[in-house]
This record gives sequence, C-alpha cells and structure tokens, in this order.
Amino acid sequence: MSKSKILIFGGTGYLGTYMVKASVSAGHPTSVYGRPMKSQQDSAKLDLLEEFRSMGVTIFQGELDEHDKLVEVLRQVDIVIVVIVTSIPQCLEQLKIIRAMKEAGNIKRFIPSEFGNDVDRISPLPPFQACCDKKKEVRRAAEKSGIPYTFISANSCGAYFVNFLLRPYDEKLQKVTVYGTGEAKFVCNYEKDIAEYTVKVATDPRTANSLVIYRLPKNVITQLDLILSWEKKSGRTTEKTYIPEEEIIKLSESFPSQKAVENSIVHSIFIKGEQMNYELKEDDLDAVKLYPDYKYTSVDELLDIFMKAVENSIVHSIFIKGEQMNYELKEDDLDAVKLYPDYKYTSVDELLDIFMVDPPKPGVAAF
Ligand SMILES: NC(=O)c1ccc[n+]([C@@H]2O[C@H](COP(=O)([O-])OP(=O)(O)OC[C@H]3O[C@@H](n4cnc5c(N)ncnc54)[C@H](OP(=O)(O)O)[C@@H]3O)[C@@H](O)[C@H]2O)c1
Repeated sequence: MSKSKILIFGGTGYLGTYMVKASVSAGHPTSVYGRPMKSQQDSAKLDLLEEFRSMGVTIFQGELDEHDKLVEVLRQVDIVIVVIVTSIPQCLEQLKIIRAMKEAGNIKRFIPSEFGNDVDRISPLPPFQACCDKKKEVRRAAEKSGIPYTFISANSCGAYFVNFLLRPYDEKLQKVTVYGTGEAKFVCNYEKDIAEYTVKVATDPRTANSLVIYRLPKNVITQLDLILSWEKKSGRTTEKTYIPEEEIIKLSESFPSQKAVENSIVHSIFIKGEQMNYELKEDDLDAVKLYPDYKYTSVDELLDIFMKAVENSIVHSIFIKGEQMNYELKEDDLDAVKLYPDYKYTSVDELLDIFMVDPPKPGVAAF
C-alpha cells in the first residue's frame, strides 16, 4: 500500500501519542505540529519529543495563529489528523487549521479532533452539549471547506475509562462507583486500536466525506459486566456505590466547572447509553466492516493488559524497592510475633517442604 505524509496536531497529548505511534508503525512519513515549549522544565514533553525524533518523526513547532508558517508546513504533507484538546474554547482553534489547509490547497484528507460519541446524533445535558456544539461547528466548517474529510466516532477510550471506573492501580480500593444502574451498554475501545483504525481510515479512499463509527462488537459492555470481569481477573471484590441519575444531573448543573462537563459526559454514556441507543444507518461506515482482518483488542484482553501492569507494579514494590523491609517498625506498630510469641508460625524452609509434598494451588492475583 502506498504511503502518505501524515501531519498530526496535538501529537504530544493523551490520544495524540497513540496516533503518532500508529502512523509511524504503519510506515507513513509522520510529522507533528505542536505549540513551542514554554519552558525547558517540561521534561516529560521533552522526552516524548525526543522519543518521536528517534522514531523518525519530524517536529514542527509553532502556534496555530502563525498562519503563514502553518500553510508552509501543510504544503509538505498529504493528510492532517487533529487530536488537540477539545474543551471550550480550544476546539475552535481547528478553524485556523481549516483556513490554512484551504490556502495550502493540497490536503487530501482532514480528520478533526473528535474520537468520542457521534456529536450529530446525541442530545446530552447542557455542559456536554456545549462541547459537542463546538465539534459540530468544526464539522460544518470541514464540510464547507471542500477539503476531503472524515469524522470519527471512536466511542469510549478503553484505558481511560478502565482507569476512571475501576481504578485498577489503587491497591486499597474497596468501593467502586456505578453511574445509574450500571446496565447501559457502552463501547470500550483500546486507544492503540482507535489510533491504528484512524490511520487506516485517513488513507482510505472509501472513507472520504463520511462518518466512521468504531462500534467494535467485543467491546460493547455495561459497567456492571466490566466490574465483574475485573473482579474475576484480579481476585478482588469491591463494594458498589450507585449514583442515581438525579444526582448526576444535579452535579452537571455546576456549569461551567469541569466537574459539570464530566458528569454530563457520564450521563450521556452511562445513563442514556448514547453510544449504543441507535441503529447504524446504511451510509454509516463501520470500522470492523471496513477492516475485517484487523485484530482489535477486546475488553477482556485490555483488562489482561491492566492485570499485567498491576502485577508488575506489585512485583516492583516488593522485589525492586523492597518495600516490605525498607523501614524500621515504629514504637506504636504492633508486631504479630511479639503479640503471640507462643504461636509456631511456618518458616520459609517449612513452606518449601510443604511445596515438595503437597503444593498449594496457585491463586489468582489477590495480593
Ligand atoms: N472518547 C473518549 O473516551 C476520549 C477520551 C479522551 C480524549 N478524547 C478526545 O480525544 C481528543 C484529544 O483529547 P486528549 O485528551 O488527547 O487531549 P490532551 O491530551 O488534553 O491535549 C492534546 C494536545 O492538545 C494541544 N493543545 C492543548 N491546548 C491547546 C490550545 N490551547 N491550542 C492548541 N492546542 C492545544 C497540546 O499539544 P501541543 O502542546 O503539542 O500543542 C496537547 O498535547 C479530543 O477530541 C477528546 O475529546 C476522547
């Protein structure tokens, strides 16, 4: 397959990092246009840019207001994928990219920053609706621009929502929050797959001037099923705190706070089920049908990735940092051996003898 020159805006961000890696691994000459670093103190961003360079990525630094620079950079590429933050008002910064692309006149495909629910289809609570309205404004500008475009409804970013709902790295976690009844279906797609599908879509003549939906069948799940799957894998059960719809609506009324936006997104996905409460129309393009050979990550496999990472962080704590023995007991710490000096506990040596004769069954990782 022929390669296209792909330029990514917002490549240093959460989803953008996956997008840059997906473009490089598909073999496309890849570049990133990002705002200049304000200070040399941001070492994480510096490291990321260095990593990108080592992968062969070209880095352009500039503001979106630098119109002439933007046009000059755009003339060197074929395809534009935008993954910048889309809160209000940053979302409309994309209009500057559209203006520059029109002047450059050579862009073969534009993918605006969306990657969530289909904004033309949903009717969420006002704070989220206000964000969707901005994304819609960008859609309308793209349609008018004459530049071939593709809109992408990627539904929920899987790792983002597993972290949000299950808090897998919190060893002390005893309670999880369930929004509403926990029974609404949503689509939990791994970010790596979202990015890899997007790079395919961006270079695919079949997807020009269309909407592509990432409704991956193995990733359609409810909150309750997600919690249950995680409990089975981790060997830990958690108490569920249910937040009723009325409370979520109330929390969304503190607009324009970030909490209000978060709660209205939660309401759209987990109460109204707006990722799954509609039938696909005939002209909706479905990622799975477009690329039937692509082996996407199922939710179950995504939870395995989390399980491995959690296990590794526990292994790191015990065997690398030595966190069971790297502190002195304090005066008020109670020591089991001192409390019960007559109890004959099993030494490691005796434990190994037990393993020689009657090895206890391996347990699930219930650390
Ligand atoms: N469906 C989901 O579950 C889900 C989850 C997360 C995100 N998303 C979507 O994915 C897209 C990207 O979100 P994200 O969370 O990855 O974003 P992010 O990490 O917050 O930011 C991405 C990049 O935006 C650029 N940026 C920040 N402020 C800007 C400004 N004022 N003007 C221009 N550029 C600015 C920065 O790049 P530079 O510093 O390099 O310029 C930043 O690295 C959004 O459309 C969002 O809605 C969807």
